[in-house]
Amino acid sequence: MPRTVSLSILSGCALGVALFSLTVLAQQSQTVRQGVFTEAQAGRGQAIYKTQCSSCHGEMLEGRLGPPLAGDNFIADWDKQPLSELAGKIRNTMPQNNPGKLSGQQTADILAYILQVGKFPAGRAELAADEAALKQITWPAGNGAPPKPALNAAQALSFPPAGNLAQVMRGILFPSSNILFTVQSVDPGAPTTPVEGAVSPGGFNWVIWGGGIYKGWELVDYAAVALAESAPLMLTPGRRCENGKPVPINDPEWVKFTLELAEAGKAAYKAAQSRNQEAVSDITNQVADSCLNCHQVYRDRRGGVLNPSDPSNKAARCVKQ
Ligand code: HEC
Ligand code: HEC
Repeated sequence: MPRTVSLSILSGCALGVALFSLTVLAQQSQTVRQGVFTEAQAGRGQAIYKTQCSSCHGEMLEGRLGPPLAGDNFIADWDKQPLSELAGKIRNTMPQNNPGKLSGQQTADILAYILQVGKFPAGRAELAADEAALKQITWPAGNGAPPKPALNAAQALSFPPAGNLAQVMRGILFPSSNILFTVQSVDPGAPTTPVEGAVSPGGFNWVIWGGGIYKGWELVDYAAVALAESAPLMLTPGRRCENGKPVPINDPEWVKFTLELAEAGKAAYKAAQSRNQEAVSDITNQVADSCLNCHQVYRDRRGGVLNPSDPSNKAARCVKQ
């Protein structure tokens, strides 16, 4: 999917869900900001914490051998789930050197203390120990650290297209798929006789040429990988077709054909790993179909009529007909 589109669709949905669940929760349950424990309970929890937890998590919950139990990062670990999850984590796995010994009540008391240190307000009722009640308590939105930007270096940099779509097709997809199609008639595992130069009698031969450095099945592997990896290039923002029309990267059907290309490439790679000529020959149908299906819609039509051999249809390319 084109990144910009999928992001805006996703964030739109996430917002809808968040708003919806907030209204539902407002009717049914509490958040930790609404005074869900008492001062006295937090005091009991502090006493247990001192003897059982502080050696690893620090006197101030700041973390030592174990992680901090206060602060934005800690809350961000837990604020997407009801309080029962944090209670379960403590009761089932802590103290790490002697887990499973805390009662439900002790766990709730420690939790009260953790909330108090986290500056959540105390109230009039104690935090209940049973799971069903803790399940009803959630964290209000916006407690933890703001979500970290998930950009990696490649996303932060931008890679504007270096060429038009036809050039990508001719430069990457055409030679790679031809290597795969050659497997139908040439066994990559068969011993080869060294060829003088890189040109075979019938002209330039991809397999013979590459065979000088990477041999046999290896070449087939790389061709399959090249095809699979070429799929995202179909979706590079800003790329144009040879006729100047923008590549229709936001068109759902275009995206679907792109995914088919990626799948075909992966399937070809898997087949190549079997080192079985038959298996790769079979998979070339899937590869050919992935090219054909897209070409039928976006390349080889003119006025709605399919005609792959008519070069004058170039003006009509890259537009769904
Ligand atoms: C022997 C050291 C040790 C003791 C004692 C100990 N912990 Fe931990 N605790 C750890 C370590 C290490 C981790 C990180 C690994 C993990 O999550 O299981 C951890 C993780 C946690 C987490 C999850 C933190 C997060 O951000 O996900 C909580 C909550 C926790 N401990 C609470 C407690 C409580 C409450 C006690 C006392 C009852 C306690 N621990 C005692 C070592 C300890
Ligand atoms: C997502 C759609 C799509 C897929 C998948 C696709 N193509 Fe294309 N292909 C096009 C379009 C559109 C053009 C016309 C590009 C232009 O005019 O800039 C094209 C053009 C070409 C050309 C250039 C034709 C010429 O005019 O010289 C070749 C070669 C080619 N594709 C090979 C392949 C092969 C091989 C595959 C499969 C491995 C493939 N394509 C998969 C859409 C696709």
